[in-house]
Amino acid sequence: MSTASTAAVLSRNHSHPAQIEGANFLNLLIVDDDRTIRESCREVAQSLGFNTHVAESPEQAYRLLESAGTDAVLLDLRPGASGLEALHTIRKHRSDALVIVVTGYGTVQSAVQAMKDGAYDYVTKPFSMEELRLLLERVAGHLRLKTENRVLRETIKSRQGFGNIIGRAPEMEKLFRIIAKAGQSVHPVLILGESGTGKELVAKSIHFAGIFRNKPFIPVDCGSLVPTLIESELFGHVRGAFTGATNPKDGLLAIADGGTVFLDEIGELPVDLQAKLLRAIQEKEIRPVGSVKRVPINVRILAATNRDLERSVAQGTFRRDLFFRLNVLTLRIPPLRERRQDIPLLVAHILERIGRDAGMEKTIADEALKALLNYDWPGNVRELENSLERACALSSAHEIQLRDLPTQIYSVPLDVMGVSQPSNGIVPMAELEKQTILNALTQVNGDKMLAARLLGIGKTTLYRKLKEYQTA
Ligand SMILES: Nc1ncnc2c1ncn2[C@@H]1O[C@H](COP(=O)(O)OP(=O)(O)OP(=O)(O)O)[C@@H](O)[C@H]1O
Ligand SMILES: [Mg+2]
Repeated sequence: MSTASTAAVLSRNHSHPAQIEGANFLNLLIVDDDRTIRESCREVAQSLGFNTHVAESPEQAYRLLESAGTDAVLLDLRPGASGLEALHTIRKHRSDALVIVVTGYGTVQSAVQAMKDGAYDYVTKPFSMEELRLLLERVAGHLRLKTENRVLRETIKSRQGFGNIIGRAPEMEKLFRIIAKAGQSVHPVLILGESGTGKELVAKSIHFAGIFRNKPFIPVDCGSLVPTLIESELFGHVRGAFTGATNPKDGLLAIADGGTVFLDEIGELPVDLQAKLLRAIQEKEIRPVGSVKRVPINVRILAATNRDLERSVAQGTFRRDLFFRLNVLTLRIPPLRERRQDIPLLVAHILERIGRDAGMEKTIADEALKALLNYDWPGNVRELENSLERACALSSAHEIQLRDLPTQIYSVPLDVMGVSQPSNGIVPMAELEKQTILNALTQVNGDKMLAARLLGIGKTTLYRKLKEYQTA
């Protein structure tokens, strides 16, 4: 802002000193070459709860954008091309930040151009503090909505499948007690269990039953991402940190902001990232990829693995110090075959859900339930869920029969299941064919095209057979 327009600050209206709820933590960068203006704007912004940073020049602003969190920028638009150029550069650095441009008297044209080029709003000099206050209130409202949407999205995403943890086995009762305790603590929890035992469900319960329930729950799958991606997901990166990093990104450990980050499959985390994670937990700060600056974090860590981490430590593939750090509280979820008494309860719970979705009551025949009780469930509760879902999809009848179940369960020797053997020991061809078809579908996860190809029959034949089974 030129010195001539220092008089832009006409009045200081403090008749609305109340902070905007939730505006706190919003970062505003004020770019102006006039110190008086910078300070006045800063005062108004702070009274509204903004964290403020100031820059004397666009060049200084670019440097701040790299290191400081920025949600909005108040940019004094220098006359001519250089002003708009500053706007473009800021937008390129931080495409998600709102830019409000301040233009000189009589230069509405440049304000219009700035709006076309992506500015959120503009204010013309001279402007009163009241004008600025109203504008910043609007900015805060807009940003708050954006954040709320993001947190809401994360919460909805993470609540998918969130329901009661079913179980009455003594080991499960014990688990519930530890979950309740863990919810009240800030320490890391290590959740151990075979695949499909409910590790993620338990992590969500700890979060949503606990003191951080109104903060985000952010799951990160350390097993499915390539190492460089996990690093930038967790710690964030600055622009240009690596090829493709066209925009700076905040790390999930920082975004969690008082909530929980759930590190799934922690056993897969590469050793160098283990060291970086350990440092982050110990020092409560992270360093985004490509940055020299540190960002403070306030996050609760939950981690899960189906690996024997102690063995990984002994083998040198998992850091002992990180293991101890994460292992403050350990939760071991028993495999389903060790708590068979929970199977009927789980079946009832799952069928109730499927029935509700399908708008019809679903039940299970005794001999089918017996088969479920005898099966070993290597895929645990998830496999049980999938089996029942498939059975319901294949049969439109109310009651699930033994023949509707996947073959691996169904083909447990009949006498083991307590089902009477056919007296002559001969199984009808039609029954064998049905078993083969249903088995093939299970193997290919329900992909009918692929199943038909593997079975060497036409797609139409497969559909017809399935229809027959449904009406059987
Ligand atoms: N005790 C339980 N009560 C009800 N549903 C359960 C229970 N345990 C697991 N589930 C359900 O089983 C499915 C698998 O659970 P989850 O994803 O939490 O398992 P996981 O241990 O994380 O599995 P993986 O190791 O394969 O990632 C989910 O749909 C979950 O809702
Ligand atoms: Mg999981």
